[in-house]
Amino acid sequence: MRDSMAMSAQAATQTVRLGWYWALSRYIDRETRAAGMSSTYKPKRPVPSFRALLEDLRQLIADDAKDVGDGRYPRLPEAGDTPRQYLNRVRAMLSDLPVALARRASEDTASVASIPLPQNQSLPDYYTQDFHFQTGGYLSDDSARLYDVQVETLFMGAAGPMRRRVLAAVADIVRGHDQRRLALLDVACGTGRFLRQTRLAFPRLPLTGLDLSRAYLSEAERNFADCQPATWLAANAEDIPLPAASQDIVTSIFLFHELPPDVRRRVTREMARVLKPGGSLVFMDSLQMGDKPQWDGLLEAFPVRFHEPYYRHYAIDDLDALFTEAGLVAVDKSTPFLAKLLVRRKASA
Ligand SMILES: C[S@@+](CC[C@H](N)C(=O)[O-])C[C@H]1O[C@@H](n2cnc3c(N)ncnc32)[C@H](O)[C@@H]1O
Repeated sequence: MRDSMAMSAQAATQTVRLGWYWALSRYIDRETRAAGMSSTYKPKRPVPSFRALLEDLRQLIADDAKDVGDGRYPRLPEAGDTPRQYLNRVRAMLSDLPVALARRASEDTASVASIPLPQNQSLPDYYTQDFHFQTGGYLSDDSARLYDVQVETLFMGAAGPMRRRVLAAVADIVRGHDQRRLALLDVACGTGRFLRQTRLAFPRLPLTGLDLSRAYLSEAERNFADCQPATWLAANAEDIPLPAASQDIVTSIFLFHELPPDVRRRVTREMARVLKPGGSLVFMDSLQMGDKPQWDGLLEAFPVRFHEPYYRHYAIDDLDALFTEAGLVAVDKSTPFLAKLLVRRKASA
């Protein structure tokens, strides 16, 4: 039976969050304009009205609240921060803004080069740049500390609800199984936001988070301080250090748009390799061109505003062919707000 109290509480909390992040993003826009950095780029493709964006956001919040009401997953705090810790992160993001804007003005995407690497770590060239002009790229502790508030501000508070669409798909896969006997790998787990929510929803599901950034993995580990641990792997998704057919579920969230086309293919083959026959890939990334034709102008403008060197190709890449070639069969597809969610299954032996 649906728990309407929990459903309403979830909808109300998320609506307040959206309002807060909308205000933050307005503030950042204002600072960007004041610094003479607002984009004058006019996309050739259509751009949705504010009303259309709001309608999709409303649907996202309604779906999230319904899943809480139906017990698909519980009400989940976005992070383990106290309000003070959270406000410190927001303050740090705002202090970093002038530095990031200055680098954007000079098209400098190499602050990452100043971060010393652990001696035993080498990184692929495509990775060592400041994606979205992030100070320190993905390699500094400060970048890891700011990442989540930056992403939430960019998505006006919708990043958490969009990631929970992945959690909803995972919940459907786990239902009816003993979670202790399953294994889930999150490829490019970043600061572990998705895995933390998965852990809170499924306390006994064995979880592994893989990422190239040790700084982000340390932040992820801190995010797990108050819950059952996960396994963390500092590794390249092109060469996953796990045995073939070892995972029941592989998730990948907001990774592919940051990979060159050939790397996307290698990572897909690796994800398929580590999946058990019958196992599922739950994939989320940006919308692609044509997913919501009236929104294509947003996808066109995104890499003009942010340093996202592989996004244009991602936006037209044939993901269907990519996954099919790797033996991953289509199961489900949806487009929550600015994201695309695909569920694929590895054919049983
Ligand atoms: C946009 S972030 C997404 C992080 C997280 N999945 C989320 O939902 O916020 C991209 C992540 O991919 C990681 N990454 C990029 N290329 C990688 C690779 N080849 N192998 C492993 N991780 C990679 C980065 O370190 C970063 O944490």
